Amino acid sequence: MSMRPLTLGVAGLGTVGAGVLKLLADNADVVAARAGRPVAVVAVSARDRARDRGVNTAGLRWYDDPVALAGDAGVDVVVECIGGSEGPAKALVEAALRAGKPVVTANKALLAVHGAAMAELAGSTPLAFEAAVAGGIPAIKALREGLAANNLSRVAGILNGTCNYILTTMREQGREFADVLAEAQKLGYAEADPSFDIDGVDAAHKLAILAALAFGRPVDFTSVHVEGIREVSALDFQMAEDLGYRIKLLGIAQRTEAGISTRVHPCMVPQAAPIARVDGVFNAVVAEGDFVGRVVLQGRGAGAGPTASAVVADVIDIARGRFTPVWGSAAGALAAVPSVPMSAHTGCYYLRLMVVDRPGVIADVTGVLRDNSISLESMLQRGRAPGEAVPVVLTTHECQEAAMRAAITRIEDLAAVMEKPVLIRIEPA
Ligand SMILES: NC(=O)c1ccc[n+]([C@@H]2O[C@H](COP(=O)([O-])OP(=O)(O)OC[C@H]3O[C@@H](n4cnc5c(N)ncnc54)[C@H](OP(=O)(O)O)[C@@H]3O)[C@@H](O)[C@H]2O)c1
Repeated sequence: MSMRPLTLGVAGLGTVGAGVLKLLADNADVVAARAGRPVAVVAVSARDRARDRGVNTAGLRWYDDPVALAGDAGVDVVVECIGGSEGPAKALVEAALRAGKPVVTANKALLAVHGAAMAELAGSTPLAFEAAVAGGIPAIKALREGLAANNLSRVAGILNGTCNYILTTMREQGREFADVLAEAQKLGYAEADPSFDIDGVDAAHKLAILAALAFGRPVDFTSVHVEGIREVSALDFQMAEDLGYRIKLLGIAQRTEAGISTRVHPCMVPQAAPIARVDGVFNAVVAEGDFVGRVVLQGRGAGAGPTASAVVADVIDIARGRFTPVWGSAAGALAAVPSVPMSAHTGCYYLRLMVVDRPGVIADVTGVLRDNSISLESMLQRGRAPGEAVPVVLTTHECQEAAMRAAITRIEDLAAVMEKPVLIRIEPA
């Protein structure tokens, strides 16, 4: 093949950036065939020149300042693998788009927070981000292109591999959150500062992106309701098992009569649901469309290989001249659908209380629920220990979040309730 290669400048040579270099070296032939021309990295940027990254960077132009990649006349496409919604990643993407250079990025934080402005800046210049959501799963392409003919009603997903690994290990080994988190950090499955993952922020970034694509509206990270997995305990896994559920951290975007609701929180899902069986570091995305029905996608959501697979697929699209507006439709065609606050959510709930085992306690609790128009579906009490705290688990029929919150505030104040109640929302399959 004698065609001039498509040239890349890769900023960031960590897990993702180094993975991209490795994939392009190992799969050069298949990439060239599908791109219609060779693809060659010609310039890179990272902080530490001396670090061994397991890939050959000899002969590549090295920039200490990543933004300089955008001004390199020999670079056709900028690949941003630094990360973060602000700082050098944002400056580089803006500089590249201003220069009319296509950008491929794995950066969900940037797209979730500044995605609307970035799309405006991009105009008809490609800004691709398949790797930003669910790593190797082609979720962006599936929603934006594969399902483009549908009205989507719901998109739900396991969007954070670290949380799914922790929850899976807690369930399988009957261990507590803090213990499993510490081990995950040792094994490299969780960051030294794990808060973005375990507090649900990373999943919320990805959900905001999926919701924008699914419902054709401007990306809106600030309206996502976010809860993480710190409060889930080994006891809740035992109770879930008895009730026929699995506990998963889900991101859910749903079209309701009042608008779009977007939320990330731990959920009880029926054991038979496909998403209940997605374990370990795997991710899944489930979309429901009016003509297609339900589509379930599953795969590796992180790591060098899966992420590089997604980044290079975007590069191939650019090489082929395949172009779709960043958010699926032109900015002017995006609908201003309102966001629904969490207080308006309706659903079923799992509520675990630790109460002193004495007569009248259950009557007090059920009285509060009745006062808030919440009807019980089931009640489970584990063991008896008169005078000591025992777990009581209540599941409810469908009710409003605001009513449930009001009830919990009163239940917390009951003298017999010893710990902060644990609330986990029950999601349909
Ligand atoms: N890891 C995954 O599995 C995964 C999956 C999907 C999406 N992503 C996204 O991909 C992006 C990169 O993630 P990662 O895991 O590859 O991160 P990482 O391993 O921490 O790598 C970040 C890279 O950026 C470089 N860098 C940081 N600040 C820089 C600066 N000011 N100038 C030049 N280079 C700079 C670092 O240089 P040094 O190496 O010299 O320190 C490093 O090579 C993030 O947006 C992340 O959310 C990651």
